Amino acid sequence: MRIHIVRDYAEMSRLAARVVAEEITLRPRSVLGLATGETTLGLYQELIRLHWEEGLDFSEVRTFNLDEYIGVHPEDSTSYSYYMTHNFFRHINLEPANTFLPNSLAADIETECLSYEQRIDASGGIDLQVLGIGQNGHIGFNEPGTDFAQPTHPVQLADSTIESNARFFPSPNEVPRLAISMGLGTIMKARKILLLAHGSHKADAIYSLVCGAISPTTPASVLRLHLNVRLILEQSAARLISECAQREN
Ligand code: F6R
Repeated sequence: MRIHIVRDYAEMSRLAARVVAEEITLRPRSVLGLATGETTLGLYQELIRLHWEEGLDFSEVRTFNLDEYIGVHPEDSTSYSYYMTHNFFRHINLEPANTFLPNSLAADIETECLSYEQRIDASGGIDLQVLGIGQNGHIGFNEPGTDFAQPTHPVQLADSTIESNARFFPSPNEVPRLAISMGLGTIMKARKILLLAHGSHKADAIYSLVCGAISPTTPASVLRLHLNVRLILEQSAARLISECAQREN
């Protein structure tokens, strides 16, 4: 696991964008795994800048998002589909047909999970998976206690996740309780993984990921078993790991 500790959110976003841009430049038909949330907004802004100012070409790139709320219409401003379209996709030259999110309106959610997993496999698998991390150590919506081997599956959001995501909704009652998420097994199949974190509210989760036990109690700890993981951490998110980061680097 390679760990980069950077000064601030802007530097985290710029470095992450360089990693993604390198992947696309080396492999124009890259398959990217993408995340939503506050952490990745700066990364998407920087990638948009690289597209317009340096010609970064997304025309052959394919993307698969980690997760989507169940029952929220893709055009609803709280859906992850809306987030991706408005914060990233519509500002670059990605083909809309090459962007995938779980269909949260599917009549049969189990079948949708299976076919999402199959679509990822049929694309050749994810080359680079971008991740944020929840304060409880979740990645995607894989909450504490999730089986490490699970494929894409329906999930019940943890109370702490509902509380934390309430900032994106008019009231906490409106945060959906269910979602579809790539599983930890899906994430671990990606060839490379890039996890970003900023803010001292993420310090405990980063400590558990880097220094704690490898256990479903901290879903992100499974990443220690992957051979190609890079963490880009803003310094306050990394403030608790100095004693064991050396061991991991
Ligand atoms: C989002 C996702 C989540 C977030 C995590 C951090 O697609 O899968 O795991 O990455 O909850 O969210 P923020 O970035 O809002 O702190």
